[in-house]
Amino acid sequence: QEAELQARIIAAKKKLGNRLVILGHHYQQESVYRHADYTGDSLKLSRFAAETDAEYIVFLGVHFMAEVADILSRPEQISILPDLSAGCSMADMANLAKVERSRRELAKVLDFDATITPITYINSAADLKAFCGEHGGIVCTSTNATKIIEWGFRQREKVLFFPDQNLGRWSGYKMGIPLEQMPVWDPDLPMGGLTEAQIKNAKILLWKGHCAVHQMFREQNITRFRAEHPDGIVISHPESPFEVCLNSDYVGSTEYILKTVSEAPAGTRWLVGTELNLVNRLAEQMKPQGKIVQFMSHVICECSTMARIDPQHLAWTLENLAEGNVVNRIKVPEHEAELARLTLQRMLDAS
Ligand code: 13P
Ligand code: SF4
Repeated sequence: QEAELQARIIAAKKKLGNRLVILGHHYQQESVYRHADYTGDSLKLSRFAAETDAEYIVFLGVHFMAEVADILSRPEQISILPDLSAGCSMADMANLAKVERSRRELAKVLDFDATITPITYINSAADLKAFCGEHGGIVCTSTNATKIIEWGFRQREKVLFFPDQNLGRWSGYKMGIPLEQMPVWDPDLPMGGLTEAQIKNAKILLWKGHCAVHQMFREQNITRFRAEHPDGIVISHPESPFEVCLNSDYVGSTEYILKTVSEAPAGTRWLVGTELNLVNRLAEQMKPQGKIVQFMSHVICECSTMARIDPQHLAWTLENLAEGNVVNRIKVPEHEAELARLTLQRMLDAS
């Protein structure tokens, strides 16, 4: 049945020709990833989405990625997510109602728009990107977070960073900001669970959100690896906990991880802290060069929502498109898209 599905995908793709482009994130399972015309991390894929002329952009990824493709493409282009339930649990941790409530709370102790640049990680819903657009803020990805936070400080004295506290903390730490000036803002507590003095002293307020997949990596995984393989090299995604980033040799986006390990000398051994599909694929690709690639955890850290995009959904989507039926379109309402586009464009220009 798998072979039949693969053949159906290839046939439908052929029928659609250059009316279709398939963009694939590095966490996708191999059975669909192999059909992507372009692969990349969030930054690279958003650039592809902004540049393609294809009528249909089918996204092998999660909901916010297909939203970004819709926002950055022209109105007549159609962005499609083969399974609408492929969300990002981290993105869901900063919903607009909580963000608006937090803004009202903060406004009790400071002038929000004069003091704070809101910055959202691209892993967020379009309405939060629009919020940032409305309040002079910007979007970042794992590749450009430091540069974008620096941009934020050029606008105002503080940054409110959503939704990933780990990416915000690691980026701030690299910029030399002391940890006590990066307190966690818990949107479910009065005044974020902080005192007025803590808020006033803060440089970056870190929204209380995280990625459940990367949260599983532990400093002990690295300690054990280094004891067993003193020459081994450790590389992690910045969504990992602070101690993991701190003890890694390299930290960066999915694209950066792939590039760094691929370009390393033959015979090297790597411990990689990011999603399992990427690590398994990398391990296979590096075998001929005698490089050993190990996954950071003993627990299976797979992004279950990324995994919802499977050959069945892809075949169904493409066959419908080939017959002229658009299914699973992702369309951001224009009033939101306009402001979200502004923040994404600010990011593309600044990075
Ligand atoms: P990248 O932009 O590094 O690919 O990260 C996206 C993501 O969702 C990581 O969990
Ligand atoms: Fe979201 Fe984490 Fe999955 Fe990335 S790995 S899409 S941050 S849940």
